Amino acid sequence: MSAVTGPRADLDLSLYPPGTHLDGAGRLVVGGCAVADVVAEHGTPAYLVDEGALRAHARAYQQAFTTRHPRSLVLFASKSFPSAAVIGLTASEGCGTDVAAEGELVQALAGGADPGRIVFHGNAKTDADIAAALAAGVRYVVVDNLDDVDRISRLAHTPVPVLLRVSPAVDASTHSAMMTGHDASKFGVPSGQIADVIARIRREPMLDLHGLHAHIGSGIGDLTQFEAAVAALARLERFGVYDLGGGLGVRYVRTDAAPDVEEYAERVVAAVHRHLGTDVELLVEPGRSMVARFGITAYRVVTVKRGPRTHVAVDGGMGDNLEVSLYGQPFEPAVIDRTGPLEVCDVVGRHCESGDTLARDVPLVTPRVGDLLTVPVTGAYCFTMSNNYNAARRPPVVFCRDGQSRLAVRRETFDDLLAREQLLVDRT
Ligand code: LLP
Repeated sequence: MSAVTGPRADLDLSLYPPGTHLDGAGRLVVGGCAVADVVAEHGTPAYLVDEGALRAHARAYQQAFTTRHPRSLVLFASKSFPSAAVIGLTASEGCGTDVAAEGELVQALAGGADPGRIVFHGNAKTDADIAAALAAGVRYVVVDNLDDVDRISRLAHTPVPVLLRVSPAVDASTHSAMMTGHDASKFGVPSGQIADVIARIRREPMLDLHGLHAHIGSGIGDLTQFEAAVAALARLERFGVYDLGGGLGVRYVRTDAAPDVEEYAERVVAAVHRHLGTDVELLVEPGRSMVARFGITAYRVVTVKRGPRTHVAVDGGMGDNLEVSLYGQPFEPAVIDRTGPLEVCDVVGRHCESGDTLARDVPLVTPRVGDLLTVPVTGAYCFTMSNNYNAARRPPVVFCRDGQSRLAVRRETFDDLLAREQLLVDRT
């Protein structure tokens, strides 16, 4: 097959990790590895992570902040890709870690994250969560509510450094399921109660209040909303530490625009310097904008059904990518490794649900059974929300770097699925 050059209507490489290209045979290469070779070894569906590009990005993220504000720490929001290997990768590049539950803390510690660079969140922390955070010695526990105050007071033996999560009363323009900075949110303290909660925390000898936290939502492309959150925090009592959460949006399809990390850091740090001062400790917690672009999902086409619409069904779907069915997130799948005439198709999954659609009305190289199909920008929130609908085995995570692929998470087995079950059938 001859090499494919020039722009293709069905494949926009700017959505893939930087460095992704087609080799001389027209095969898609990520992290130096032909996707076809990776799936020949590890099967489909599979999550591929460009390890080298993600490392460089994690480093650049941290530097974008520290060059502008030396007392900054970028915490990877581990919920977006909670794997010990991914957390460990970001930690080894100098990032801290945001965890939102005991399980994420376990993964972060297993991945080698330094507890002194871990921040512990959660709107419904149990005694077990708090005990785990205290035992690990995390940098800050983020108090979300008065029950957190009670629990920490009861469980701690020495004063615990805490931040208070507040509602900055900013209505971020994003999917309603991802708005978290408004007063009716289940997260944090509503703006009218903040002063009282601060006073209450100060009365507790086991809580040592260092600063405030605000996370206004996820998938935000308008940087003025982050500036508004900083301005809102500045209207409260001043502290030495501010954690601005995550939320920066990314491009999922070629028509999307999103600020890059340099612009984000520039605007956020300028707002912090203007409103909060130049010597505060500044934390940010990117998830999506840290990992989304560095992961792709590879599938095999299982059937092609032509009728009123062309349904291209792949060997995964909402079991490995809930973004579409939960939030209507658009993606740009492509049939890879060959060229040909394009056909407008719907890419659907194999689960027993009509909503199990990965993309609608996308131009694909006329699909055939057995084709490889990739979906870019699946590095955030896909692995983490993968599930066992139809007893699907959750896919592996394969790191690709310099032409070598390494398994970071193996594919689930049917034995894994059965291992938790007791066979309570009457065998007599
Ligand atoms: N910090 C806190 C306290 C958060 O709640 C979140 C995300 C982040 C940081 C990271 O936000 P990011 O930079 O990734 O936008 N399941 C949804 C996303 C929910 C985000 C929840 N919190 C999805 O699949 O898109």
